[in-house]
Amino acid sequence: MNQNPMSEPIFADGASDRSRHLSASGNAAGPGLATAAAPLAETPSAHPLTGPGSLPEEHPARRSAVDGGVADASLLQELRGVRSDTPSVWFMRQAGRSLPEYRALREGTTMLDSCVRPDMAAEITLQPVRRHGVDAGIFFSDIVVPARLAGLGVEIRPGVGPVFDHPVRTEADIEALPPLGDDYEEALAPIREAVRLTVAELGTTPLIGFAGAPFTVASYMVEGGPSRDHLRTRALMRSRPDLWERLATWVAELSGRFLRAQVLAGASAVQLFDSWVGALGQEQYLEHVQAHSAAALAHVSDLPVPRIHFGVGAAHLLLPMLGAGATAMGVDHRLRLDRALEVLPAGTPVQGNIDPAVLFTSEEARFAEARGVLEAGAAAAGHVVNLGHGVPPDTDPQVLTDLVAFLHSQRVARAAEAPEA
Ligand code: CP3
Repeated sequence: MNQNPMSEPIFADGASDRSRHLSASGNAAGPGLATAAAPLAETPSAHPLTGPGSLPEEHPARRSAVDGGVADASLLQELRGVRSDTPSVWFMRQAGRSLPEYRALREGTTMLDSCVRPDMAAEITLQPVRRHGVDAGIFFSDIVVPARLAGLGVEIRPGVGPVFDHPVRTEADIEALPPLGDDYEEALAPIREAVRLTVAELGTTPLIGFAGAPFTVASYMVEGGPSRDHLRTRALMRSRPDLWERLATWVAELSGRFLRAQVLAGASAVQLFDSWVGALGQEQYLEHVQAHSAAALAHVSDLPVPRIHFGVGAAHLLLPMLGAGATAMGVDHRLRLDRALEVLPAGTPVQGNIDPAVLFTSEEARFAEARGVLEAGAAAAGHVVNLGHGVPPDTDPQVLTDLVAFLHSQRVARAAEAPEA
């Protein structure tokens, strides 16, 4: 049987063999995850990786690599706290403008239109996996796609970001938000179809699904577009907590159902992006945001898929973000992973965090940074290598390909390595 049905040799570096090198330093349930999930807030006490819900029969996470699935893929194992000898890596924003094949395919189609064309979304998701040999695909979409599918007027302006036709600021604006009923479920059909097409091509490489967290998505809605300090959003939270509550509840449902649609259609892990949450202090986060992020993640917490939570400039929020029901924490490049591990409960897998700035330096500097990140993550229960934030559009794609090859040539040096039994 063909385990790698993709048309080009994406695993020329031998990455497809990597699941055989799994070490015995953990177990499939993910050591320590139950304790990792309950700091600081009154969120549910445990977020087991195996919930009462189950994945459909044909889901790739139900089969191992020998049967063409991803159940034993080393990237997923790292997220469950089972270490491999070779690092696993993917990049936030690995699909997109850094790739000439993306620019060619996107020509004449707007960003959001490309996201709701299943064939296009699938092809764009596959492009960086083929080219770079990364260990996972990240579903090509955007954090505002669910809002568009629910019927809101939103576009992505090139070089700017998401812009909403009507900012949501008053009680009347919130009243006017579309209900998220059967229509929304139907509107998610192109997403489910795109995920199905993608995982059929990815074979033994897992697909990561994602959504925007309530704070970050709501910030675009309230501000109307990108914002430096999210002042209006933070002001709404303080002046009209009742309105904020209704808006964030709506977005949590919107994003949560988008996540669940991706997982049931074939994604094997999820990442909740709260990119702009670093604008909040801990108190604001705990009082106004955490429960909503928890509500979004709860849409998939009955399913056996790891849940990564990522924010930018959010070192002070690591614990409360984990407490929202994540099973692994994404860390940006401002905080060294060993420092993050001092804060996080033992057993928490981490993801990150090569500074994207090194993509514009020398190979020597890049590889030194990559080695440093591996060392800083060595003591973690699991570590998935990533950048500290997304791939900048003007990145030379060859630099990423070479970085992946370099990482795959490295052996993870674990602090206390147990001899193989
Ligand atoms: O490769 C991937 O990571 C998957 C696709 C992905 C996109 N957006 C595609 C995209 C993902 C995971 C996102 C999430 C997203 N979108 C976030 C969270 C991640 C982060 O970077 O913090 C945020 C904040 C957004 C909102 C958004 N959408 C911004 C800020 C921008 C960039 C605007 C610009 O032109 O600089 C977008 C547009 C966008 N989303 C592009 C892509 C590939 C560029 C669109 C283009 O080709 O013009």
